[in-house]
Amino acid sequence: MTKVCRTIASLRQTQSALKAAGRSSALVPTMGALHDGHLALVTHAASLADAVIATIFVNPTQFGPNEDLDRYPRQEQADLDALQRAGVHAVFMPDVEEMYGSHDATRILMEGPALGLESDFRPHFFQGVATVVSRLLLASMCDIAVFGEKDYQQLLVIKRMVADLKIPVAIQGSPTVREADGLALSSRNAYLSEDERERAPELNRALQICRETLRSGASEADALAKAVAHVKAFDFRPDYIELRDAQTLGPLQDLGSARLLAAAWLGKTRLIDNIAV
Ligand code: PAJ
Repeated sequence: MTKVCRTIASLRQTQSALKAAGRSSALVPTMGALHDGHLALVTHAASLADAVIATIFVNPTQFGPNEDLDRYPRQEQADLDALQRAGVHAVFMPDVEEMYGSHDATRILMEGPALGLESDFRPHFFQGVATVVSRLLLASMCDIAVFGEKDYQQLLVIKRMVADLKIPVAIQGSPTVREADGLALSSRNAYLSEDERERAPELNRALQICRETLRSGASEADALAKAVAHVKAFDFRPDYIELRDAQTLGPLQDLGSARLLAAAWLGKTRLIDNIAV
C-alpha cells in the first residue's frame, strides 16, 4: 500500500523507518499529470533502490507570471492510482504552504549549465527548479534521485547544484520516453489540438535532420539552419535550436560530445526536446 505524505514531518518519518529497516530509497520528483515518461523514471528508480518515493508538487516558483501555472493539468487521484500500481513506497504531495510557508526568503541562483537555452526565455525557471529540488532532496534524504533526459538542461543543473551544495544524493538520468511517432511524452502535450498533435513530432524530426546533416559533414551553421527551416515549415515558432557540449552545456568543443537542444512553440504550447549527436 502506497503511503501518502502531505507534510515534511511525515515524509521524514517514512524515510527514518526505511533507514531503520536498512532499506535504500530513490526519489522521483514530478509535477503530476503523470504519463509513461514519469512511470519509466519510477521503474528506473525501482531498479536502483529498495523503495521508491515519488513527489507531486506543481512548483509555483518555476513558473513565470504569464505562464501556465493556473492551467497546468492536475489529476491527483489518477496519479496516485498510477503510482500505487507502479509499486511506489510513498508519495509526497505537499501544498504550497508546506514547501514555502509565508516567510520564505531563500532561493538558489545558478550559473554554469543554467546559463542560456531555457534561461534566455524563462529567466525565473532554474531558480525555481533548483530551490524546490534542493528542498525535496533535503526533506526526503533519499540515496538516489532520478530525473529525465527529456529536460536535459534541468538534469545538468540539478547535478551541478547537488555537487556544489554537497547534498548526499546520487543523481541519475533516465532516457526520454517517446510516442511511436517520436514526440517526447510531456504533460503539456495535453494542450495540443488534434492538428497540432499531428505536427508536434516534427520538432524531433528537425533534430534528427540536423544530426544527419552534421554527420554528412555539413557545417554546424548549415545543419542548424536546416532544422530551423524544418520546424518553421510546420508553423512552429522556435525559441532556440542549439548545439552545446553535452557535459557542461558550454560552447561546443568537439562534435563527438555534443547535445542538440530545442524549444519551440506550436500554437499556445511550448515543446522542448533534445538528442545526443
Ligand atoms: P515534470 O515535468 O513533471 O517532470 C518530472 C520528471 O519526469 C523530470 O525529471 C522530467 O525530466 C521527467 N520526464 C518528463 N517527461 C519525460 C519523458 N518523456 N521521458 C523521460 N522523462 C520524462 O521536471 C519537472 O516536473 C519539474 O521541473 C521538477 C523537477 C519536478 C521540479 O519541480
